[in-house]
Amino acid sequence: MKKSTKPERTAIVTGGAGFIGVHLVKALADEGYDVHVIDNLISGKKEAVDRRATLHVVDITDLKALKEVFEAVPEVDFVFHLACRPRVQFSIDFPRETNDVNITGTLNMLVAARDAGAKRVVYSASSSAYGDQPTLPLVETMPTAPQSPYGLQKYVGELYTKMFSSVYGLPTVSLRYFNVYGPGQDPNGSYAQAIPKFLDQKKLGVPITITGDGEQRRDCTHVSDVVRANILAATSPNVGKGEAINIGGGKDYSMNEVAKLIGGPVQYIPARLEPRNTRAGVALAKKLLGWEPKVSLEQGLAELKKLLKIS
Ligand SMILES: NC(=O)c1ccc[n+]([C@@H]2O[C@H](COP(=O)([O-])OP(=O)(O)OC[C@H]3O[C@@H](n4cnc5c(N)ncnc54)[C@H](O)[C@@H]3O)[C@@H](O)[C@H]2O)c1
Repeated sequence: MKKSTKPERTAIVTGGAGFIGVHLVKALADEGYDVHVIDNLISGKKEAVDRRATLHVVDITDLKALKEVFEAVPEVDFVFHLACRPRVQFSIDFPRETNDVNITGTLNMLVAARDAGAKRVVYSASSSAYGDQPTLPLVETMPTAPQSPYGLQKYVGELYTKMFSSVYGLPTVSLRYFNVYGPGQDPNGSYAQAIPKFLDQKKLGVPITITGDGEQRRDCTHVSDVVRANILAATSPNVGKGEAINIGGGKDYSMNEVAKLIGGPVQYIPARLEPRNTRAGVALAKKLLGWEPKVSLEQGLAELKKLLKIS
């Protein structure tokens, strides 16, 4: 096993074979971190994990196996916790399975990080903790109102993350992401997210399927902005007490507008349980992390269309 030569250079990334994790692992490896990925590959892809990282195929609901990985890493500096069973509708269909991974798995990760003396845990939280709020932008001082098992579970993960900071002195921070999109996102399956699905439909030459009336508005965040926020959250001197910080594009688009940016015919399908509108207030991220979104949706979609050879 490669030993780090510089202080604070070992990172464990749970869920590092998933969409966001793959980008984060690559960025950490580029910065010279010794990266260990923990993933059970239920949806993550082994071949997508950067070759400079060490992959441990472990389920986070198995505390014993998880602790073995943490103990095998010479010094655990940063833990980025992304492993999760995501998607609102999936959690509605499978509340117990998602609870096991999203809450018990998160608790296991915190126990393992605490026992390994990790210097900081960065938890991937979700804007779904807000649910529907009467006003925008969504800011961290608003009371949470999750509307689905997923939203609740991600929020409970935040609370545990904060509690491990106050009770056990484990430095932690939570980042609430807003609809992350970018290269490598899976467009397939009934639980796929809108942007990769829309792009895939455009590429296949079939109508873009929009839920409801398409006037629901979403903040969309490029994955490179999320990766940068994670690295800043791990290294910033201003956080570590379980703060919850929005990470979003700071602008909202209706699904009709998103479809228009991609182009082509649309078809409307029944609405799902989802908040009507989201837009992140990002002032706290700027204040605590010096972070601001850099990639606009127009720019991000244009790059994706080029990458996917969509005209
Ligand atoms: N993508 C978004 O728009 C978004 C928005 C808000 C929050 N988030 C959060 O960001 C994180 C990463 O999201 P993503 O989009 O990359 O998801 P993803 O599904 O692509 O990745 C999740 C990874 O976790 C792994 N995993 C699942 N169950 C596991 C288990 N029991 N043990 C070990 N590994 C397991 C999967 O194999 C996968 O590689 C999640 O915590 C999610 O809640 C994502």
